[in-house]
Amino acid sequence: MATRIMFVCLGNICRSPMAEIIFRDMVKKSGREKDFVIASSATSGENVWNGVGAEVYPPAKKILAAHGLSTGGKRAVQLTAADYDKYDLFICMDGSNVRNVNRMLGKADKTRKLMSFTARPGDVSDPWYTGDFETAYRDIWEGCEGLLKALTDEGR
Ligand code: 4NP
Repeated sequence: MATRIMFVCLGNICRSPMAEIIFRDMVKKSGREKDFVIASSATSGENVWNGVGAEVYPPAKKILAAHGLSTGGKRAVQLTAADYDKYDLFICMDGSNVRNVNRMLGKADKTRKLMSFTARPGDVSDPWYTGDFETAYRDIWEGCEGLLKALTDEGR
């Protein structure tokens, strides 16, 4: 059965859509598309209005495009408690996301931080505050690479 991965950040317009799109590309390039279901969502409802989510933030779109990746029409969605049963892992961008996800899901066993799959665990550099989308891209790419390797080593 496919491993179902939900990437999570605060707004689902910068970091977690970047992770979704980068990880999907990596999985595709490894020829492992059938092995994973990949999505992303927000802890906040701030970027969803009457059920319609915001598009990926233009600078995030631009950095993805610079690396040859398209957002494919991705729009923000908010995480819900019902997602707990629909996904195997909730991969968070920072510690605040971890606390919010665990509160929203009412459970913590499927929650991880993306950078914990690298040699430098911590938070993904937050481009909303730094304005540095290239550093965020690099952090997320490294995290996704570590995540795919860890899951592959687990036999997923
Ligand atoms: P994201 O970035 O969580 O990486 O999508 C942010 C998006 C919106 C806000 C903060 C971070 N905000 O405060 O509205």
